[in-house]
Amino acid sequence: MLQITDLSKSFGNRMAVKGVSFHVKRGELFGLLGPNGAGKSTVISMICGLLQPDQGDVLVDGLSVQKQPVKVKEKIGVVPQDIALYGDMSALDNLLFWGQMYGLSRKNALKKAEDVLEVVGLADRKKEKLAGFSGGMKRRINIGAAIMHEPELLIMDEPTVGIDPQSRNHILEMVKSFNAKGVTVIYTSHYMEEVEYLCSRIAIMDEGEIIALGTKEELVSRLIGVSSMELKVDRVSETLVEDIKKIPGVTQVTREEEGLTIFAENPKERLGDVVLAAKGQGVAVTSLEVKEPNLETLFLTITGRKLRD
Ligand SMILES: Nc1ncnc2c1ncn2[C@@H]1O[C@H](COP(=O)(O)OP(=O)(O)OP(=O)(O)O)[C@@H](O)[C@H]1O
Ligand SMILES: [Mg+2]
Repeated sequence: MLQITDLSKSFGNRMAVKGVSFHVKRGELFGLLGPNGAGKSTVISMICGLLQPDQGDVLVDGLSVQKQPVKVKEKIGVVPQDIALYGDMSALDNLLFWGQMYGLSRKNALKKAEDVLEVVGLADRKKEKLAGFSGGMKRRINIGAAIMHEPELLIMDEPTVGIDPQSRNHILEMVKSFNAKGVTVIYTSHYMEEVEYLCSRIAIMDEGEIIALGTKEELVSRLIGVSSMELKVDRVSETLVEDIKKIPGVTQVTREEEGLTIFAENPKERLGDVVLAAKGQGVAVTSLEVKEPNLETLFLTITGRKLRD
């Protein structure tokens, strides 16, 4: 459904996207995970034809975005990171506007808008102006606007940022059900839990590059034997870090706000050593916990940083 090859984009002398390649199969729910500024939105803008790449190609269902932009736009629906709706228009009128922009007749747009309002769970508020909606409700209408023309490929750029848990759950379930109906979805987020929950294949992006790509299982299997411990202490010192690094089996130590994350081959057997090291430095341990590896751990082991730093 989507083939991206060696895509690059600079803004002035900052290279936002550096030779990114990946593909998304028809019917897949593909995750693009990365921290702020990783280049996710820039990639999406190039997929949609909103930004011209400096280098590389984007093919949507075999069509070149550069050469056949209109045909490509008919196939894709985009949920932009910044809400793109008219505050002084009703929810229904916003959906009608976007449906007609995508070529639906007014009659068809009306019919489709009624369906979409049901799907996003806001049928009872359809006559109200968008300006009076909560953030989560606006986000749901934003998604509704992207599916009015029944796209084959739905691209969602951080659709759950800054919303309440109820709207978040509604959105996650919507995404699942679109995908179950055959829509190919690219889901962009910096929330590891959402991407882990939804996506079958995941690309992790950082500083303009794809640093890991595969199924959830493939990505986490790279971490076999690298479980970690989360140590919380009353104060972190460099000498404590040095002492913990000397413990046999410890492979990496990263500093956090309230303590340390310690990667070790067999963390359960090293708990006592860690406590002793803290004690040796006169540092009080407030908690020590063994963590099973996940995408956050993977990001941390590759970059030495947390996804949400
Ligand atoms: N129009 C622009 N002009 C100049 N710099 C830009 C522009 N758009 C993006 N950038 C820069 O490109 C880099 C990548 O930005 P991008 O918005 O693609 O990141 P992102 O992964 O979507 O981040 P976020 O999670 O915060 O949305 C950042 O350093 C950003 O400042
Ligand atoms: Mg973004």
